[in-house]
Amino acid sequence: MTRQKFVDQLLKRAKSKPETRGEAFAPANIALCKYWGKRDTELNLPVNSSLSISLGKLGTRTVVKFAKNADRIFLNGKRAPKGFAVRLSDYLDLFRKKGLFFEVRTKNNIPTGAGLASSASGFAALIQALNELMGWKLSRRELSMLARIGSGSAARSLCDGFAVWHAGQRPDGMDSYAETVDGAWPELRVGILEVSARRKKTGSTEGMNRTRETSELYEAWPAQAACDFDELRAAIAAKDFSMLGKTAENNALAMHATMLAAWPPLCYWKPQSVSLMQKVWEVREYGFELYFTMDAGPNLKLLFLKESQAAVRKLFPKVQIVKPFG
Ligand code: PMV
Repeated sequence: MTRQKFVDQLLKRAKSKPETRGEAFAPANIALCKYWGKRDTELNLPVNSSLSISLGKLGTRTVVKFAKNADRIFLNGKRAPKGFAVRLSDYLDLFRKKGLFFEVRTKNNIPTGAGLASSASGFAALIQALNELMGWKLSRRELSMLARIGSGSAARSLCDGFAVWHAGQRPDGMDSYAETVDGAWPELRVGILEVSARRKKTGSTEGMNRTRETSELYEAWPAQAACDFDELRAAIAAKDFSMLGKTAENNALAMHATMLAAWPPLCYWKPQSVSLMQKVWEVREYGFELYFTMDAGPNLKLLFLKESQAAVRKLFPKVQIVKPFG
């Protein structure tokens, strides 16, 4: 099925009562059980279900209006770079009738393209703003599926707190959406350690496809992901932080192992990423409960509890601490 057919099918049930503007905020999200591999590249359908935590106030705010003659796309107050504008306009093509153009003003309070999933919050904010502008009145589930078409992980940025994105089984992708998992955990903290804010050379789609096609280790991935997914759900339900941290860190390293075994090899780490990982392992040897996760980029996201906050700041003076639950 094509993206266009998928979108048309979802919009068939939508209302249409256009407003003059639509505005929405969506949080960035960090996967604790990663989405790695597509069973359908056209519809961004994942091989495995994934689980994430949204980053509260860190994310993207987007305002959409109608425009004359051409799309006008702004990123952080300036005309957006060509690559960014083209990706957004291509996505908007799925929703426009001939002669309809949009002005999109989008602002990130996280670095764009640094492996901090700004594309996830970006597409999630855009689709919610469009929903408001066009008066579609779509449900969160439907919006999650439409965000997924822009960027897979965007499906999860429709949710606050913990989110699961069901891989689904249907070829038409109508059962592949994200929903919130019950379980507020106010003591939980995420620490962002930025190693590089530069745009990565290999995007996640290319990385996933190359890994799936060439890495012998990829064969083991779906089973590990399924097991980690269940463990993380159990850890959240039981508020078992050691289990959450261990499972998330192991899941991220297993994902990176599949990439290292791809050909040409894929390594998103910088030397500083490795020395930060080693520092985490070292302090854990002293019984300190600190874990990390990493996406398709060089930055680390630390996982710890409120009681460790002061120690984490001392160990990593540049850390940016986020409270996912307010
Ligand atoms: O949504 P994408 O296509 O940018 O892929 C995201 C992939 C990872 O960040 C590595 C994992 C994840 O689940 O977010």
